[in-house]
Amino acid sequence: MDPASSPTSLQHAPYKNADLPVDVRVADLLDRMTLAEKVGQMLQLDARGDLDELVLNKRAGSLLHASPARVRRAYQLMRSTRLEIPLLMADDCIHGHSFWSGATIFPTQLGMAATWDPALVERGARAAAVEISATGIHWTFSPVLCISRDLRWGRVDETFGEDPHLIGELGAAMIRGYQGSGLEDATAVLATAKHFAGYSETQGGRDASEADLSRRKLQSWFLPPFKRAVDAGVATFMIGYQAIDGVPVTANKWLLNDVLKEAWGFKGTLVTDWDNVGRMVWEQRVCADDVEAAIVAVTAGNDLVMTTPQFFEAAQEAVRAGRLDAALIDAAVARILSLKFQLGLFEDARIPDKDRQAAVIGSAEHTAINLDVARRSLVLLRNDGTLPLATGQTDGRRRIAVVGPNADDPNAQLGDWAGASGQIDWMPDGHPRETVTTMLDGIRAIAPAGWIVDHARGAEIGHLEPDPAGTTFPDGQPRPPVFVAAERDPHAIAEARALAENADWVVAVVGDTVALTGEGRSTATLDLMGSQIAMLDALAETGTPMIVVLVQSKPSTLPESALQAAAIIQAFNPGMQGGRALAELLFGLVEPTGRLPITVARHAGQLPIFYNQVRGQHGDRYADMTQAPLFSFGEGLSYARVAYSDVALNADTFTRDDTLTASFTLTNTGQRPSLETVQLYVTDEVTSVTWAVRELKGFTQVLVPPRSTMEASISVPIADLTVVDAEGNRGVESGRFDIQIGKHSNDPEMLHAKFEVN
Ligand code: NOJ
Repeated sequence: MDPASSPTSLQHAPYKNADLPVDVRVADLLDRMTLAEKVGQMLQLDARGDLDELVLNKRAGSLLHASPARVRRAYQLMRSTRLEIPLLMADDCIHGHSFWSGATIFPTQLGMAATWDPALVERGARAAAVEISATGIHWTFSPVLCISRDLRWGRVDETFGEDPHLIGELGAAMIRGYQGSGLEDATAVLATAKHFAGYSETQGGRDASEADLSRRKLQSWFLPPFKRAVDAGVATFMIGYQAIDGVPVTANKWLLNDVLKEAWGFKGTLVTDWDNVGRMVWEQRVCADDVEAAIVAVTAGNDLVMTTPQFFEAAQEAVRAGRLDAALIDAAVARILSLKFQLGLFEDARIPDKDRQAAVIGSAEHTAINLDVARRSLVLLRNDGTLPLATGQTDGRRRIAVVGPNADDPNAQLGDWAGASGQIDWMPDGHPRETVTTMLDGIRAIAPAGWIVDHARGAEIGHLEPDPAGTTFPDGQPRPPVFVAAERDPHAIAEARALAENADWVVAVVGDTVALTGEGRSTATLDLMGSQIAMLDALAETGTPMIVVLVQSKPSTLPESALQAAAIIQAFNPGMQGGRALAELLFGLVEPTGRLPITVARHAGQLPIFYNQVRGQHGDRYADMTQAPLFSFGEGLSYARVAYSDVALNADTFTRDDTLTASFTLTNTGQRPSLETVQLYVTDEVTSVTWAVRELKGFTQVLVPPRSTMEASISVPIADLTVVDAEGNRGVESGRFDIQIGKHSNDPEMLHAKFEVN
């Protein structure tokens, strides 16, 4: 070993001196690094491989998917490397610390979005960060800021839904929660704005397919949530898998450099998605070999290269051959090292801390926050008055039949990216059963004394099997398994039906499973799968009032038997406390407050059905079906009825620097309080280019006590009322606008007010 780089001499190296500024430390360290060490820093490798090879030979700067034991081992290995550059440990802790046994697992992002409550989402993310940071993980690949526009896509559950404004508000809140008071705080974890950008604009819902997006469309609706993330100080961005108009985002200099870094001033670090660089060779076939792919990726401005181990040799070869400027490697490595210095990892590598874990993982405090998020995430979509269940009855015992495949299924309740959902290999049995309160557990725990709760599964959804065409494609890449829907089992249905017949109410918990969720698991239909529809039909025939609870990753279509039910509750994947939250809602211990963050279709053929469609088409229906959604973006009921009236604006005419304030009156005529999510939509009446029929520009949540009237208001900066013109410039155009205030995007009783901007 060169004496100048022996561990003892390095102790006094400037890069180890915490009193020096980050850029001085970065420059000193870069100066000491070989090309191999630099390229190694750019690797983010899968920790399930041979750790010695990854850390000692490939000199990886970052690892992902490390089991608790491997986190500790990786740290020890790092200590034996020449420069002892700390590893950045990363994972997908996207609704809680997904793969840490017993960690608090929150509702999925789609469930969180149904709360419409940024402050609550921030509290959840803070709790998650406190748990994550105690386990040696420094970085979570969250939040997802993609816009869900095709419900067939398998990753709708990971998004905040379909609206750029709501996504921006919730995404910024989540970033604040993860990164806490600053990266130097030991409980902060790095957040990731992903998947930049346009990844969700699939073709036919097919995951990672080419996004058919013009730059103007991208700028209009897909980029704004990412811009919000930059403004919120997000530390990292993940680059989507897909190509847009022929160019993989990994290679898109305009998006990565001109937009993200130059126009928005993002100074943080970029990571590709899984093998994006390799995919340019073997999947998208825009690069002839790995050397070319390395050149393209580095030149476009990527920093960390996720799980493309061959980038190590390829990038070095490219530099040695004079085909890749070494200064670009230095710039990328400098950004990666800066992040490590900002986190203070050279002073404190933030290794797993057993005492902190014992105090915070799944703590009572975090469980209480989780319960709040779960309560607020439930959306009551229909109610004929059956809910809340009449607990005051004294005429003898009451009986509830709780049936359906998701009534007592902890994994369906947690959803994707949790425990046994399939991405990692060290939790085959998922989270400990006792950490999850299923719907059945919750109802049993909360039902009044003496009530009888019966249970039968009644139906099955289906399972995954290896693709009959083989488990790998001809080039050796894995072929996703296929979903096989469950056959109808007449005995199981008869059992559930018999329970319903004898019950005062039947709670039917249906939906989907992780077999129908995630990457490579998009669906062609939106139907409830397996024998669920047959079970619902049989239950409906009994005439017992039925409450349909939808535990699912994304909205499904519903059969007539469900649509005629006494009540319908959308529960998405409500997390560990979902069952308790649902039971509290059924028994009226809490109010229903959730609102849909996404439009629900009647039929898959209506897709895309998002509310902010661009105007201009012949007519407003299909010949064979309405275009109206089954449930609209923003929709959700309370147990009380609140009327909106008397909208007034603070002026009739505004300039671009003004702020508009709309005031209105809320009157609760019911017997119970209602948390109203009042939504403000804006229509720009004439635009220089075609534009959305209306867009959400603001919302507020107001708790209106029973039998009372309240004034409330929402303010919107006029500068937010922009369109993107034909040249791609975003601006506020002069003219007339119509403001709409209501309960959801399709509310027939919307209040209207007009104003001018000049
Ligand atoms: C691929 C997914 O697209 C991305 O969201 C995730 O963060 C990475 N894999 C790492 O697991």
